[in-house]
Amino acid sequence: MSNVILSMRGITKQYQMGEETQTVLRGIDLDVKQGEFVAVLGPSGSGKSTLMNIIGCLDTPTSGSYILHGRDVSSLDEDDLANVRNKEIGFIFQSFQLLQRQDALQNVELPLIYSGMHTHDRTARAKQMLERVGLSDKLHHFPNQLSGGQQQRVAIARALANNPTILLADEPTGALDQKTGKQVMSLFHDLNEEGNTIIMITHDIGIARHAKRIVRILDGNLTEGVAEDA
Ligand SMILES: Nc1ncnc2c1ncn2[C@@H]1O[C@H](COP(=O)(O)OP(=O)(O)O)[C@@H](O)[C@H]1O
Ligand SMILES: [Mg+2]
Repeated sequence: MSNVILSMRGITKQYQMGEETQTVLRGIDLDVKQGEFVAVLGPSGSGKSTLMNIIGCLDTPTSGSYILHGRDVSSLDEDDLANVRNKEIGFIFQSFQLLQRQDALQNVELPLIYSGMHTHDRTARAKQMLERVGLSDKLHHFPNQLSGGQQQRVAIARALANNPTILLADEPTGALDQKTGKQVMSLFHDLNEEGNTIIMITHDIGIARHAKRIVRILDGNLTEGVAEDA
């Protein structure tokens, strides 16, 4: 049994727009091992979000194979995709995506409700995750009572709650100032040291360099590494 937890071969994605077919991903091969911290770096329009949607089981490829945690997820239906997603992926977004009418604790409990954990265990787990990201004194603060960096840490606690196979972050520092962004990268570094597998999508080489491995996407093609002068 290898420790590859994500394996893509020949992944393509095409969008049909009337008569025209746009090819956005052109045969992506990617292996990610348990415990890696990988940045997917590329400019706007290169296909990052399209790839992220496939990695995160929000969408399926037009062709190619995708094995996630030993399961072929390349052609699942909506319900199965949703189940895999909830179990395997912890999402972190640029805009945090917290529920504004729920406090920090309730936001972190949400994925645990979906996975069927009982109230008592759920609250304990959510508290533990908020403590992990340094917010144990903010359990009952609502998103608008928290700074951007604190909101992103709530989102990270939420992503960790179900102990996912992969933490999948899309421009996680895009809405943060530079100093706060660095703090979030420092948290990612620590979470990775603790064994979490992280895939982070970014257009920012400075952010990508916090990862241990960089893959570059350009016009729907993926290449390993980045030139030293980039
Ligand atoms: N749902 C869609 N339908 C049609 N074209 C799309 C769709 N999503 C993305 N695209 C096109 O795919 C290309 C890559 O988009 P995207 O994956 O969002 O790139 P990035 O996140 O790197 O900016 C763009 O040319 C975009 O217009
Ligand atoms: Mg994008």
